[in-house]
Amino acid sequence: MFRIGILGAGSIARTMARTLRLMNYRGDDVCLYAVASRDQQKAEAFAHQEGAQVAYGSYAAMAADPNVDLVYIATPHSHHAEHIELCLNAGRNVLCEKAFTANAAQAERLLNLAREKKLLLAEAIWTRYQPVRGQISRLIADGVIGEVRGLKAELSYPLTNKARIVKPELAGGALLDVGIYPLTFASMVLGDDIVKTSSSSVLMETGVDLTDSITLWYRSGAVAQILTSAAFQGENTGLVYGTKGYLKIDNINNPNTVEVWAGRHSTHPAQILDVEPKLTGYEYEVLACKKAVETGALECPEMPHSEILVMMRQMDALRAQWGVRYPFE
Ligand SMILES: NC(=O)c1ccc[n+]([C@@H]2O[C@H](COP(=O)([O-])OP(=O)(O)OC[C@H]3O[C@@H](n4cnc5c(N)ncnc54)[C@H](OP(=O)(O)O)[C@@H]3O)[C@@H](O)[C@H]2O)c1
Repeated sequence: MFRIGILGAGSIARTMARTLRLMNYRGDDVCLYAVASRDQQKAEAFAHQEGAQVAYGSYAAMAADPNVDLVYIATPHSHHAEHIELCLNAGRNVLCEKAFTANAAQAERLLNLAREKKLLLAEAIWTRYQPVRGQISRLIADGVIGEVRGLKAELSYPLTNKARIVKPELAGGALLDVGIYPLTFASMVLGDDIVKTSSSSVLMETGVDLTDSITLWYRSGAVAQILTSAAFQGENTGLVYGTKGYLKIDNINNPNTVEVWAGRHSTHPAQILDVEPKLTGYEYEVLACKKAVETGALECPEMPHSEILVMMRQMDALRAQWGVRYPFE
């Protein structure tokens, strides 16, 4: 049985606990083994409600437990680096929520440490691991929409009621929390050979980014337009434009429908792709980590270390364009 320990008993931790339960019922040979919170009572309540065997009142105590095969880190972005380091130094494999760290320098240091320790270190950016990614790539490779020349992606939620989004000391802002998804969508479709980036942002009173508009120009001649915000509810769609038609993806965060539209005058999609039914959508990153640990791999091919760094550097550069710096930088 592949035993997972959740570090930080917040909101996404609950979703992961549910995912692990569903995977366990399905017979995936994974289980929620432990949970760690800064507060023992909170850990115990979480363990009781979500079905974890062990509840730890400190992150270090869970990191020291050799029965944990993989720690899933679900804390604010500001603390990912500290918590990854704690787990690696204790000898644990790690799957850390996105954004991987607050900046690229932290990411680089920890990826080196993981390789030194010969431990798995992966980023929980779920869309990279979902099979629909391969389905979209195959449609494009088959030339269904012709040559891809453009892309539009948007992801926005009203999130300014959350401390971790608003506070600079928690590495808040729209970019690291939601902006990472349209950037990831663009990266998965168009690659990373970007020759020019133009962007601007409306900042919150606290100094972190609220609404970001980003345009990426690629060496291939393709252009990606990205809008992302913590101020409003968006449609969250992705569009991939080709010379013969376009793809419409209903939710770039967790695609459920992929439509192929061909021709200027069509009134209905030429094709609608069947997306594989999901448990929650988070099961794929867990399965990828299980496979990596079982085969001794130190990274997941779906989101290799090199790609983690590309994305962190891209977000560093965007924040530099807007003058957004976290107090600990
Ligand atoms: N993949 C996805 O779809 C998805 C969705 C939502 C969020 N996320 C990611 O998951 C991470 C956590 O997000 P969340 O929405 O679950 O946040 P959350 O509800 O605020 O939970 C974060 C948890 O981190 C722990 N923590 C440790 N140090 C903290 C500090 N200084 N301040 C506040 N909390 C601290 C707390 O757990 P204890 O009190 O138990 O120690 C807290 O409950 C972020 O990286 C976010 O980007 C991913």
